Amino acid sequence: MSKPSVLFVCLGNICRSPLAEAAFREQAALARLAAEADSAGTGDWHIGSPPDRRAQAVALRHGIDISTYRGRQVQAEDFHRFEHIFALDGENLRDLRRIRPADGTAHLALLMDLVPGREGTNVTDPYFGDAEGFDVTWSDVTIAAANLVEKLLERQD
Ligand code: 4NP
Repeated sequence: MSKPSVLFVCLGNICRSPLAEAAFREQAALARLAAEADSAGTGDWHIGSPPDRRAQAVALRHGIDISTYRGRQVQAEDFHRFEHIFALDGENLRDLRRIRPADGTAHLALLMDLVPGREGTNVTDPYFGDAEGFDVTWSDVTIAAANLVEKLLERQD
């Protein structure tokens, strides 16, 4: 079985999807799962920017430095490069379906579909809110990432 590859996509790629990437990397490392991970935004405003300071802070509070991450916009080739693409909210999922190339092979899903009881729900965008919103984001993406790692490990049995 080839190494699983996962892309997390939100709007700006400076708040939610970098945290999802960081949480997934951490959960995969803890479980000794070898996997490729990246994140991207549907929008182009933050290409080349580091994550939002509040996102960096919440990751650091959990022992993870994401200061070297840089924003990028999702591209057509991502639909070939990654096996799974997870959207952080429903609007991101709709945008991904719209830009997906006809021959794209990646499986698209909503991130919270990985969490029983929370299927179909969004990871709320914390950008325009206060710092506590980033704790909610961290908690959401961590549960989803842990469940994703478990699923990918089951597949390797
Ligand atoms: P993200 O949050 O999609 O979780 O990275 C946002 C960041 C920036 C903007 C919107 C959402 N923005 O409009 O610049």
